[in-house]
Amino acid sequence: MNVAIVGCGSIGYKRVAALHALGEDRLLVVADTIAERAMKLATATGSRWSTEWKNVVEDDQIDIVVVSTTNQYLCPITVGALHNGKHVLCEKPLGRNVAEASQMVETARSSHRLLKTGFNHRHHPAIRTAHSAAASGELGTLMFIRSIYGHGGRLGYEKEWRGDRIQAGGGEMLDQGVHVLDLCRWFLGEFSQVSGITRRYFWQIGSLEDNAFALLQTSGGKVASLHTSWTQWKNRFSFEIFGEAGYARVEGLGGSYGDETLTVGKRRSEFGAPVEERFVYHGEDESWKEEWREFKKAIECGTVPLGSGEDGLAIAQLVEAIYRSSSAGGTSVPVTSHHTEGSITCQK
Ligand SMILES: NC(=O)c1ccc[n+]([C@@H]2O[C@H](COP(=O)([O-])OP(=O)(O)OC[C@H]3O[C@@H](n4cnc5c(N)ncnc54)[C@H](O)[C@@H]3O)[C@@H](O)[C@H]2O)c1
Repeated sequence: MNVAIVGCGSIGYKRVAALHALGEDRLLVVADTIAERAMKLATATGSRWSTEWKNVVEDDQIDIVVVSTTNQYLCPITVGALHNGKHVLCEKPLGRNVAEASQMVETARSSHRLLKTGFNHRHHPAIRTAHSAAASGELGTLMFIRSIYGHGGRLGYEKEWRGDRIQAGGGEMLDQGVHVLDLCRWFLGEFSQVSGITRRYFWQIGSLEDNAFALLQTSGGKVASLHTSWTQWKNRFSFEIFGEAGYARVEGLGGSYGDETLTVGKRRSEFGAPVEERFVYHGEDESWKEEWREFKKAIECGTVPLGSGEDGLAIAQLVEAIYRSSSAGGTSVPVTSHHTEGSITCQK
């Protein structure tokens, strides 16, 4: 298929690397509002370049648009591409809020095109294996999840787009937090009730949060806890799933997050120390390639990809519930598709 990438930043490069490694599709156009970025990537990949996303989404030769811009433009570009009959892989989060995510999902439905949210963490091998173990019943009935995701920013982090409400839409909950929320929901199912506390402790980012804490409950009483942080200082990812018969623990994501490891423990019938198996996944992060492969398969077979547009919308609803709860002092609130008054809406 012919692919266009809009947004030639760090994630645009990751998407290009995956496309090239798989070698099945043709990168036809890259676009960025900063001409040098678009030009540099075009030169490296032998593709055309543009500074105008509108021209890209109207290009008849393009089948798939990858939208990897700052959060502010995810919605208008995704909607524009869907309207023009393209399939879209939109980076996480699916827009800055529920209003934007809803608009994207509705447009995908009305244009009969596939919309995928870039929840690549579902494709990390430790997470996929843990999910298969949980789904097969190996861990018994699932009870709860405990998770941590964070990094320590970098010099001048507060001046980057992630520290600006208009460009980002939210703070660390909407940034790294959405990956963990997506995983919690993938393992435990829909959450009906949420309590959250968001705080700005360190970075000078106005009313945005640099830390978020959340407790999520399903209607059946399963609970997920998460802490996501821009003051973790040393990058960390930790995701533990507990069932009545055992547990799975994923630590690290490779690279600066440390070796990706999966530990699976089984409770013994006589209790005492469980039997543990530990797997280490060395090498480069394969999740981008796996995600692309699965996305393509979904387009070809007309199936729903892992991390669909609807999944992105469900996560936007959870984030809004967490923010609502935090504004109410951390009290438990129901998860609804309620639109917050004054939310920033997508402009074409
Ligand atoms: N899946 C993941 O793990 C993951 C990780 C990091 C970031 N992301 C997401 O990917 C997106 C990009 O993040 P990043 O870290 O690559 O940011 P980045 O700042 O490195 O790159 C964003 C690029 O988009 C360009 N851009 C902004 N507005 C544009 C527009 N209207 N048209 C064309 N180009 C435009 C910018 O000039 C910049 O080059 C964000 O939505 C972010 O949340 C996903």
